[in-house]
Amino acid sequence: MAAFGRKPASSIFKPNAAVCRLAATIDMTLLALETSCDETSAAVVRGGRILSSAVSSQIKLHAEYGGVVPELAAREHLRNLIPVVQTALTDAGVEIGQLDAVAATQGPGLPMALLVGFKAAQAIAFARRKPFVGINHHEAHLYSPWIHGNPLVADFSGFQPNLSLIVSGGHTMLVLVESELKHRVLGSTVDDAAGECFDKTGKLMGLPYPAGPEIDRLAEQGNPRAFDFPRPLLKDPGDDFSFSGLKTSVRYFLRDHPALPDDPQRLRDLCASVQAAIVEVLVAKTIRAAKREGVRCVTASGGVTCNRALRRELARVCGREGFELRLAEKSLCTDNAAMIGILAERKLLAGISPTPLDQEITPGWVLA
Ligand code: KG4
Ligand code: ZN
Repeated sequence: MAAFGRKPASSIFKPNAAVCRLAATIDMTLLALETSCDETSAAVVRGGRILSSAVSSQIKLHAEYGGVVPELAAREHLRNLIPVVQTALTDAGVEIGQLDAVAATQGPGLPMALLVGFKAAQAIAFARRKPFVGINHHEAHLYSPWIHGNPLVADFSGFQPNLSLIVSGGHTMLVLVESELKHRVLGSTVDDAAGECFDKTGKLMGLPYPAGPEIDRLAEQGNPRAFDFPRPLLKDPGDDFSFSGLKTSVRYFLRDHPALPDDPQRLRDLCASVQAAIVEVLVAKTIRAAKREGVRCVTASGGVTCNRALRRELARVCGREGFELRLAEKSLCTDNAAMIGILAERKLLAGISPTPLDQEITPGWVLA
């Protein structure tokens, strides 16, 4: 009987160089999986084209608890993964035997959630003897603003160095993307992320989780100058963000005005005022970093990039300052496997080695 150590030493766990070279052609067909948080997603990409992108969101499940419950998220991924993969393959018109490579989010994310997609992708790669690529979720966000159209296609022909804002429920980051696959993180949040600030202040106002989209909707008919909230670290010369102070000031404001959310127009004004504070900080710090770094292009991605005021304000200021602006399509702002697949494809085409199959998830993977 074969003896198995803790670390499999067999060469079957190492990427096969010949297979990888063969696979890394512009026409390779790649299946990508994303399960880092509360979206189960699978996508098939080929030559920069998104042949299919299936996303099963767990928002309704977690709404009851006012936030993502990791154990529930993992169970839901387990339940949904195979149907989602099946949908992605069917929509793409691709059989599993036609895949040339497989990719999955390796980190950062919820450990038990990451494991579902990562291990499934490794298992497919192992069974089909295909290269596997583990991807950093945030690095994938950096390239999502270059995917556009219907059908969605990644077009890097106009690529230029850019300042990238990644803004989601868990992260707020400014990243200098110097060239394709080369980046440097300039700053990130020291406490709450911008999306978290939307969600937590919205919760204080009595809005359902996640409150970001609801604040966006209500703010459209509100006065952003009705109430004055702090703009944290706006004047600080660094590129870090901080949003917990803003959340606290909304808490004190509501303590002093407990009946305000009962008045629909005053609630809209409050939403617009909180949103204006978040958006002003995000836009001002992004543009300042872009000017300082000498790039001519600004990009934005992550769930909060769905926010209409943020999109409008980035467009207005970039137009005024002469920056090209690339915003991720709304369907690609929230978590999706399409962006994971596009980055994995770029890496294989650039000759970057696949990820050995004995590698594990990296839940705390910090983009450098
Ligand atoms: O990227 P994402 O789907 O998940 C991660 O956090 O990784 O982002 C979700 C976040 C939530 O905080 C949600 O409230 C926020 O994005 N969000 C929005 C909007 N749509 C989603 N925040 C403000 N305005 C929106 N329209
Ligand atoms: Zn994300």
